[in-house]
Amino acid sequence: MAALIQKGTDYHKTFDTKAYLTAYFATPEGADEEGEFDTLCLKEFHEIFNSGRLKPGSRLLDVGSGPTIYQLISASRFCTEIVCAEYTQNNRAEIEKWIKEDPDMHDWSPFFKFIADLEEDSGSWEARQSHLRDAIKEVIPCDVTKPDPFAPRQHEEVNGILLFYSFDVVTTTLCLEAACPDRESYSAAVRNITRLLKPGGTFVLSGVTNQTFYTVGGYKFFTLPIDSSFMREVFEKAGYVDISIKSFPATNSENNTVSDFDGFVVLDAKKAEIE
Ligand SMILES: C[S@@+](CC[C@H](N)C(=O)[O-])C[C@H]1O[C@@H](n2cnc3c(N)ncnc32)[C@H](O)[C@@H]1O
Repeated sequence: MAALIQKGTDYHKTFDTKAYLTAYFATPEGADEEGEFDTLCLKEFHEIFNSGRLKPGSRLLDVGSGPTIYQLISASRFCTEIVCAEYTQNNRAEIEKWIKEDPDMHDWSPFFKFIADLEEDSGSWEARQSHLRDAIKEVIPCDVTKPDPFAPRQHEEVNGILLFYSFDVVTTTLCLEAACPDRESYSAAVRNITRLLKPGGTFVLSGVTNQTFYTVGGYKFFTLPIDSSFMREVFEKAGYVDISIKSFPATNSENNTVSDFDGFVVLDAKKAEIE
C-alpha cells in the first residue's frame, strides 16, 4: 500500500535531507522532473538583490531554509548577518555541516560558480563561499504555522541587545506552500513573519503554483495549491507595497511524476513604511 501523503510533523520523521539535496540540488540546472526552478530562482534572486535595494551590512532572515543555501548566495553580497530558520533538526544540521565544512556536507560550489558568472566575476566564487559561511550567524528552529514562528527566539537578549529583533530582508523558497495546511494559515504565516521585517524592508519569495504534492526519498509530501493572484492578495493585506510577481509556466508537466506544479513564481515586495 502506498504511504499516506506526508505533512506537518511528518517532516521530522520522513523528510530525507540527503535525498532532497541529491534529487533537486546536484547542479544549478536542477533535475529534469523539477524543470527550471533552480536556474530561474538563482537568476531572479541575482536580479532582485543587485537592483540596489540592499545596503551593505543588511540583515537577512531566511524562513524554511531546509538543508539549502543556494537562495542566499546573491543576497550575501550585501548581507553580513544572516539567520536561517528551519523546521527540522536534520535540515538545520545539514546547513551547520556546510558552514563547518564537514566532509559530509553538500557541494554547493556549482551554485556559487553559477552566481559568480552572472556577476561577471567568475574568480570570486570561493571568496563568496567563505563570505556566506561567515555571514550565517545562526541556524534556528521555526514553525510558520505558529502565531510566533520563531518563539521564543526573537525576544532573546544578549548583553542588553535584542539580537533577533528585525531584519532588512526576508527570503523564503518553496516553504510556505509546503508548510501551511490551508490558505488561512498561509496568510497568517506571511503576517507573522512580516512582524520581523523592518518598515521599508524587502520580502523575496519563490515557490510553485497549483502543486498538490512533491516527492522526496519515495515519500509524497503535501503542497497547498496556490496561485499568483492569491499571493498578491495575501501580501497586499499584510501591508506590502510595490509587489512584483513574475510567473514562469512549467515546461515539463507532461513527464513529471515526482510533483504536479504548473509553474513557478518569484515575488518581491516592500513592507510599507510607517506613516
Ligand atoms: C520543499 S522544502 C524547501 C527547502 C528550501 N527552502 C529550498 O528552497 O529548497 C520545504 C521546507 O519547509 C519546511 N517546513 C515544513 N513545515 C514547516 C513549518 N511548519 N514551519 C517552517 N518550515 C516548515 C521543511 O522542513 C522543508 O525544509
